[in-house]
Amino acid sequence: MAFLLQRFGLKESLGYYKIMKILAVETSCDDTCIAVAKGGRNFLNFEILSSIVSSQVKIHRKFGGVYPSLARREHEKNLPLVLKESLKKADLLVRKKNTIEKKELVLYEKIFAKEQNLLKRFLNFIGQYKKPKIHLLAVTVGPGLEPCLWSGVNFAKALSLWLDAKIVPVNHIEAHIFSNFLSLEVRKLAVKQKDALFPAIALIVSGGHTQLILVKELGKYKILGQTRDDAAGEAFDKIARILGLPYPGGPAIEKISKYRNIEISKCRNVEMSKCRVSLPRPMIFSKDYDFSFSGLKTAVLYNYQKRPKKIRESKEYITLMAREAQEAIVEVLVKKTIRAAKEFKAKSIILGGGVSANERLKSLFKEKISKMVNGPLLLFPEKHLATDNAQMVALCGYFYWLKSDKIKNWKNIKACADLKIA
Ligand code: KG4
Ligand code: ZN
Repeated sequence: MAFLLQRFGLKESLGYYKIMKILAVETSCDDTCIAVAKGGRNFLNFEILSSIVSSQVKIHRKFGGVYPSLARREHEKNLPLVLKESLKKADLLVRKKNTIEKKELVLYEKIFAKEQNLLKRFLNFIGQYKKPKIHLLAVTVGPGLEPCLWSGVNFAKALSLWLDAKIVPVNHIEAHIFSNFLSLEVRKLAVKQKDALFPAIALIVSGGHTQLILVKELGKYKILGQTRDDAAGEAFDKIARILGLPYPGGPAIEKISKYRNIEISKCRNVEMSKCRVSLPRPMIFSKDYDFSFSGLKTAVLYNYQKRPKKIRESKEYITLMAREAQEAIVEVLVKKTIRAAKEFKAKSIILGGGVSANERLKSLFKEKISKMVNGPLLLFPEKHLATDNAQMVALCGYFYWLKSDKIKNWKNIKACADLKIA
């Protein structure tokens, strides 16, 4: 055991020999997520007991994107419900009437000073259930949408007070990197064959972020580049909106891009040749590792506006445009990531974030890596773990718990919308 900890660079932490339970909260964007996990001896010894994601997609669909104040209101409504469901699934929910001491009540009122509805719902919850045996909380503190982050952070602080458990504040981007390590096989590599994975290049691509990160090892990062304007997922969402496709745009564009030309031409609305489009690959040859996707969205908009109504509303045009937009985004992401992997002699490329669920992105990576001599290993999370979830937050919190690092009192936790990983 000591050998495993040593190889992985983990100190023997106070409770490393205990079986512990961790509850993680994630509300950085529009999904209300809570997970309960069990851990104990080392990084391999981690098991998810429950994970609930309450999606707000239907609510934000009519706006074509996430509305922060609306998302916060939904989090406040959902958090106690998602907590109940996740504790129930983890077999940790027991009914018991409790009275809340005045002294404690004052503290809860202080924590939820700006969230009166959440305060009411929280007090209602803790008045009905027995304290579950949770030893540690982990909560996403940033980066993300500030009002959304605060609802999760304050909820975790109140839970920490109730359960008398410490909190690990988690960086959302780092959590997306950790989503890859939810797989036991990948954790085994990280522990037993660290040199086969690190240094790594992580590409984190979501609705709010596009970052290329040098991962010297888990916990040690350097940002190589990021988007100068729209994130890759945001570009998918905005382009989908122009084309009249539903939110979230990424999955909608991916789905429509898969239609084969032969099938599209059967529509016979307009001639395929009149629908051809060619978009730029922004910053593909720039010497840095930055990205820019807002010009791409504008190029789609101009192309769309100058087409006759009959063409731009045809299935043929929408399909070809969606496919070309996906190709443009994916090609830039792959090209720059591979260049970084070569420059930093990366042993692996780690993907994460909603856009990493994209099949075309993964297949282009595989194709390019297969042509390299001793190319890097490609890691990507399972599809349902690519988008926001609390499992990755729980694992990240567990990692720092094993290192006896970043463990804080609830009073010292705050949200930070533009938190940096390094
Ligand atoms: O990581 P995530 O769930 O939330 C943020 O942290 O933003 O990512 C959501 C983003 C959305 O912009 C969505 O359109 C995009 O990920 N996305 C995809 C796919 N699935 C989700 N983009 C491309 N292809 C997909 N299959
Ligand atoms: Zn995310």
